[in-house]
Amino acid sequence: PYQAPTAQDLKGVRVVVSAGPTREYLDPVRFISNPSSGKMGFAVAEEARDRGAQVTLVTGPVTLADPPGINVVRIESALELRDAVVEAGRDAGIVVMTAAVADYRAASAATEKQAKVAGDVTIHLTPNPDILAELGRDKGSRVLVGFAMETHAGIERAALKAQRKNADFILLNYPTREGTAFGGDDNEVTLVRADGTSESWPRLSKREVARRLLNEARQLIPTLSD
Ligand code: CTP
Ligand code: CA
Repeated sequence: PYQAPTAQDLKGVRVVVSAGPTREYLDPVRFISNPSSGKMGFAVAEEARDRGAQVTLVTGPVTLADPPGINVVRIESALELRDAVVEAGRDAGIVVMTAAVADYRAASAATEKQAKVAGDVTIHLTPNPDILAELGRDKGSRVLVGFAMETHAGIERAALKAQRKNADFILLNYPTREGTAFGGDDNEVTLVRADGTSESWPRLSKREVARRLLNEARQLIPTLSD
């Protein structure tokens, strides 16, 4: 069927998207991670590309192939993610953090595989840098967008998170909704702005969530709003 051409309303805008999980190695063959599929971030990157943006997608280990027309940077750890996002985000107009960044890494990862020992073991973890907050400390005119999954008091917690990190808005979702969030093709989110205002969207494809996210972000770019 006929498809109307997509508006090139992000032409010339540099968009940086982070996606997927991070891996925090304990030793060469073991790591702490999470089940993020990367689908939400890839959808944002593809939507931005189709609207004319110059897109860098920084992604942790996912099964998705590199989308054409996008500069894809593959990373594993949160520290690698930070370096890549800070570098690519330097002259970006919009940065979208969909990555499920591990909050902690091993205080000192072993260089050799650790053999099993008798009884309990304790792992010493140290906090990873908060990448979104770091971008927010030197925000400039960039539009900063986060994602957050909360089990309770979602809107308040997301608004506080946006304020703390100096992000413009956060897309909030709940882990309990079937077919959404981790691994699914759909997402049901509430847009929560740093000022505490919010908008709940119905269950939508991740691509449609991406489209609406970029509409909101675009309006916040000072030189583009019309
Ligand atoms: N984020 C980040 N760097 C981190 C942790 C999170 O940039 N080290 C980003 C995520 O990519 C996401 C947003 O911050 O866009 C919110 O993530 P979340 O895990 O909800 O925030 P935290 O500050 O880690 O709060 P919590 O204690 O609830 O995990
Ligand atoms: Ca976290």
